[in-house]
Amino acid sequence: MRELRVIGETVSGEAVAEAVREGLLACPKTLPPWLFYDEQGSALFEKITALPEYYPTRMERELLHRHAREIAAGRDELRPLSVVELGAGSAQKTALLLRALDAEGCGISYLPMDISATALREAEEQLGRDFPQLRLRPVLTDFTCERPMLPIDAEDQRMLLWLGSSAGNFEMEDAVRILRDASTEMREGDFLLLGLDGAPEANGRETDKQISDLLRAYDDAAGVTAAFNRNLLKRMGRELGAEFCVDQFEHEARWNSRTSCVEMHLVSTMAQSVFVRELERWFHFQAGESIHTENSRKFARDEARALVRAAGFSPVKSWHDANGWYGLFLGQRV
Ligand code: AVJ
Repeated sequence: MRELRVIGETVSGEAVAEAVREGLLACPKTLPPWLFYDEQGSALFEKITALPEYYPTRMERELLHRHAREIAAGRDELRPLSVVELGAGSAQKTALLLRALDAEGCGISYLPMDISATALREAEEQLGRDFPQLRLRPVLTDFTCERPMLPIDAEDQRMLLWLGSSAGNFEMEDAVRILRDASTEMREGDFLLLGLDGAPEANGRETDKQISDLLRAYDDAAGVTAAFNRNLLKRMGRELGAEFCVDQFEHEARWNSRTSCVEMHLVSTMAQSVFVRELERWFHFQAGESIHTENSRKFARDEARALVRAAGFSPVKSWHDANGWYGLFLGQRV
């Protein structure tokens, strides 16, 4: 296979060890969601996006498909456009938007950023084949803590994408910081497009979404999300010599109404101690004790617009599916 032309380094073993040490010593125990996305985890996430219960990807793809031309209409046809995407993954649904943007004007560059080399390689292969005129510059990076130098011409118009409701994985202030970091060089007329999953009924009358719909999306009948969550235990086994017994932890999805988040947990079914060779120490679990592995925030529309504003853009328009479950929010720098 061709070498991936990426800018940046792969996630180091030390970063994984440090994150695990810190997370498992914390009380309550947590692990950062970026740990999900090793090769196996990225493949499992791709499977999640095709599950009948997991509506966000499907709805977002539909919205991008339906509104790509309108989103692209704001572009300045006389300038090249650079599209930077945070957490692009394999970038399949982005292709819809890129195609519409491409039809509107002159040359376009696409800079997908991700922490998974596997996903970026896939993006590069697919887009390189379907879209030969696109200037593709994949960036392998952890954009949550580093700001890589991006090869973008100063005269390019820019569009920053953060899709898939990935912003919901972060505390609001961190999401704002990430967006501000990624948009420091953006100027008047440049765009931000956020894809955000909507909050359930309790937060307003805009949607008929029930908490049960949410929980099903994070605890599917086929058990793919459970496998995705448990892959963390396996990954710690592979990379850190951690001796987790994977079936002694149960996958759980919980709704936290205070934070408006679906939480994922790995719950120890018994009291146990687990040795982690790389960290040269034991970690103790009580029966029923959990490792909190993910927050997936669900946004009321005014919260989504507040995020666009806090990032330094003014809200232009938003698009929603017929039931109002999911939204695309466009902002423009003024
Ligand atoms: C990729 C973070 C948006 O929160 O819905 C899917 C990850 N976790 N199923 C989400 C995920 C469990 C997903 N994000």
